[in-house]
Amino acid sequence: MAMPTAAGLEDVVVGPTAISDVNGQIGQLIYRGYDIRDLARESTFEEVVWLLWHGELPSAKELGDFQRELAAERPLPDDVATLIDQLAARAAPPMTMLRLATSLLEVEDRGVRGIAPEEELRASLHLVARFPTIVARFHRRRQGLAPVTPPADTDTATAFLTMLHGAPPDPADSRDFDTLLILHADHEFNASTFAARVIAATLANVFAAVDGAIAALSGPLHGGANERVMAMLEAIGTPDRAEAYVQQILAQRQRVMGFGHRVYKVEDPRATVLRQICRQLGQRKHDSRWYDIAERVAEAVWNAKHLFPNVDFFSAPVQYMLGIPIDLFTVVFAISRVSGWTAHVMEQHANNRLIRPRGAYVGPAPRPYVPLSAR
Ligand code: COA
Repeated sequence: MAMPTAAGLEDVVVGPTAISDVNGQIGQLIYRGYDIRDLARESTFEEVVWLLWHGELPSAKELGDFQRELAAERPLPDDVATLIDQLAARAAPPMTMLRLATSLLEVEDRGVRGIAPEEELRASLHLVARFPTIVARFHRRRQGLAPVTPPADTDTATAFLTMLHGAPPDPADSRDFDTLLILHADHEFNASTFAARVIAATLANVFAAVDGAIAALSGPLHGGANERVMAMLEAIGTPDRAEAYVQQILAQRQRVMGFGHRVYKVEDPRATVLRQICRQLGQRKHDSRWYDIAERVAEAVWNAKHLFPNVDFFSAPVQYMLGIPIDLFTVVFAISRVSGWTAHVMEQHANNRLIRPRGAYVGPAPRPYVPLSAR
């Protein structure tokens, strides 16, 4: 019998990666050696995607070419657009819609279904370019609105907000959304990335791995937490009701969404950046209500449980104030994280070994078969 390991693989190191690293003791996250706080302040989502895929920041020429390539790939194949329209009409859950659209993208993308590095890079570019178009089209269609043609001359953050709202965003909103995309792009061996690597390690292609990763991200203990955070902030309604609400949740032995983390023992650095964006966004929109409620919730959870907010906590009011509907928060997470998933699939395939752990068997000892007539 294999020996049991920690429940939930806690602290188990499953393999090397050069893509990102979480230091939970000091609250540091690095992408390819660069601190997430520096990237959030200085870089753009496109630079970060390039960094995750290629290991180095792009030159000005590489970045310009990459931005043009991404913009050129934003339009959807006709069949994918039709599928999204049908799913919008049937009010499909957004994460399910994204999974189905990803599967159909594979069907359409005949030339890049293999796992050769150049095919995989091309397929990854298609996924990163098209996720924003997919999500925006889905939302417009379910509201009975015409989809917006993907802008050809702008960055991912501006393109997504334009396609979602039907008009170009305030540049400050676009910058905040770009920072949110940077912060969500990768996070070492989190559940969805690990799922992607397990699938990739069977030599399945990047579309299959991303399908599985979307499924893993959808759960409330992972990416699904941000939607529940906003539902909580709405239910609380005013800052003065935050403390009683938190106490009630904890008294019922429920979890407060957006708090706690498997790895961080101090505040998640992504939450620190998003907290600041949340405060500034509230000031800019002349509505600090969501920031004020969030801070009171954070204070109450700290006093009661000594738990820090994680990335999902402030990401929820930030997305809300940028006009993103609550049920799209997790697919927006995926718009960013698909860059990390694809980087991990490429890294896995570059030096592959099947991921096949053991189970610690706790069932009955070997015993004779009992015929049906004797049961
Ligand atoms: N609310 C209340 N209590 C929490 C909590 C939360 N959000 N997160 C952890 N705890 C408590 C647990 O009840 C447990 O307390 P106990 O030892 O008194 O029973 C202790 O903290 C350890 O929790 P555990 O479930 O062992 O941690 P984990 O590493 O398995 O879980 C998470 C990590 C993220 C799944 C967990 O913190 C959680 O469920 N958070 C809410 C969901 C969320 O925000 N997910 C997004 C993650 S980025």
